[in-house]
Amino acid sequence: MATLEIHDLHVSVETETGSAEILRGVDLTVKQGETHAIMGPNGSGKSTLAYSLAGHPKYTVTGGTVTLDGEDVLEMSVDERARAGVFLAMQYPVEVPGVSVSNFLRTSATAIRGEAPKLRTWVKEVKEAMARLNMDPAFAERNVNEGFSGGEKKRHEILQLELLKPRIAILDETDSGLDIDALRVVSDGVNRVRENGEVGTLLITHYTRILRYIKPDHVHVFAKGRIVESGGPELAEQLEAEGYERYVKGGASA
Ligand SMILES: Nc1ncnc2c1ncn2[C@@H]1O[C@H](COP(=O)(O)OP(=O)(O)OP(=O)(O)O)[C@@H](O)[C@H]1O
Ligand SMILES: [Mg+2]
Repeated sequence: MATLEIHDLHVSVETETGSAEILRGVDLTVKQGETHAIMGPNGSGKSTLAYSLAGHPKYTVTGGTVTLDGEDVLEMSVDERARAGVFLAMQYPVEVPGVSVSNFLRTSATAIRGEAPKLRTWVKEVKEAMARLNMDPAFAERNVNEGFSGGEKKRHEILQLELLKPRIAILDETDSGLDIDALRVVSDGVNRVRENGEVGTLLITHYTRILRYIKPDHVHVFAKGRIVESGGPELAEQLEAEGYERYVKGGASA
């Protein structure tokens, strides 16, 4: 069973004025089949955690460990992480000019599976997955994220998730900017991927709305670069009612 283990993770980012520590000792274990929701105030480091796990070069790990099934993730290149099954759906997905969705997906699948998917079955696979996400087939020929609406970007991320079948899926605010119908379509997609019990999901969100569709097993409060409280789904409701004030005021400041 795939287990992502994050232990005492410290991460810094280089800024014009020097280096700033963003993550200050994150501890988290995500097992295959589990869904963990991470909630926390703006700027607390949630996206930094997501990027650090995916291996974004901007972020420097200054301490701690991350392992997937005991393998050192921090030693892996970005590609190796993807091949090992770590998938990141970004809060702000980037444009890839000149590369069509269809080619992008096939290249990614080739990288992850170690061989190019057979063209005929692949085209069918993509078509079916797009239909499930209510995506216009013409979308496959558009350039990745170029001129995509916010909701289209998020659907495209879930399309990748469905086709690439990662072992650890990190979804950074996949719900932001989605209308009610799109939220349902996207949630259904995530749930389909979760159904086989083979993926561990890390769901970063600001709203309990999505958690009504994608039921988390664990909810964590992220504040000032670390997890400050963990609980079950009821913790999300409590946060929505009470806000983060008691986690951010006083105490643990830098
Ligand atoms: N590349 C960077 N350069 C400078 N500062 C950065 C960089 N990346 C992150 N930071 C800073 O790190 C802190 C955490 O940012 P991060 O994006 O991880 O927060 P977040 O919890 O995802 O917030 P939000 O809920 O608004 O998405 C912020 O103060 C941010 O300005
Ligand atoms: Mg963020």
